[in-house]
Amino acid sequence: MKGVVLAGGLGTRLRPLTSITNKHLLPVYDQPMIFYPIQKLAEAGIKDVMLVTGGDSAGDFLRLLGDGSEFGLNTLNYAYQVNEGGIAEAIGLTRTFIGGDKFVVILGDNILEDSLASIIASFKDQKEGARILLKTVDNPSDYGVAELDGTRVISIEEKPKRPKSSYAVIGVYMYDSFVFEVIDSLEPSARGELEVTDINNAYLNLNKLHAQIICGWWADSGCSIDGLLQAGIMARELRRGDPI
Ligand code: G1P
Repeated sequence: MKGVVLAGGLGTRLRPLTSITNKHLLPVYDQPMIFYPIQKLAEAGIKDVMLVTGGDSAGDFLRLLGDGSEFGLNTLNYAYQVNEGGIAEAIGLTRTFIGGDKFVVILGDNILEDSLASIIASFKDQKEGARILLKTVDNPSDYGVAELDGTRVISIEEKPKRPKSSYAVIGVYMYDSFVFEVIDSLEPSARGELEVTDINNAYLNLNKLHAQIICGWWADSGCSIDGLLQAGIMARELRRGDPI
């Protein structure tokens, strides 16, 4: 299975730290943020990865990550997103790289404790469709939020003012290659972006969306300055083996 890491965007929520660089190059404890999602994929046995980025710092990713061999990857490929067209647009840029395979997408600012190995194994066993991961949070309005009936997802809303649950949809998504047809059919949202939540709702409407709840900690290190700080503290505790 192939992997995709998304590292575009303007990082406006982290200004002024992101005034002259891409947020995924900022430090989270002792590593650049972008190392964490790449390591997470590599650890789970994903050896062919495409990184999608954009903006003025794109060349810095090449200088930092090179051919990916330091992470144990076979290939590290790059795609350039010209506009801030959203997560779904960025996924669309990987179409040729992915071909007809199933794949895993991870947002470059998402840092998580759990291994993806068993989740990816479940997705391999899944005949078709998509798989998303959920985690309870205190501030669901900052995320995509899943409404559940037992363990079944019945709706997903992007950053709702009045969230229907505390289950955030975290930034790890697994898709079959049908996702590219879904992306072709999407319309930009009110903020002018192609939304990953619209992809997930399309699979939900086809009854092809599986969801599972993760147990370990999760940080969206790009959501705020405090989120970045919290991610650093968690990364340090994990590294030391301290309980979180
Ligand atoms: C994105 C997604 C959102 C998801 C979040 C996870 O939001 O749009 O659904 O919950 O990532 O990190 P962003 O943080 O890019 O605004």
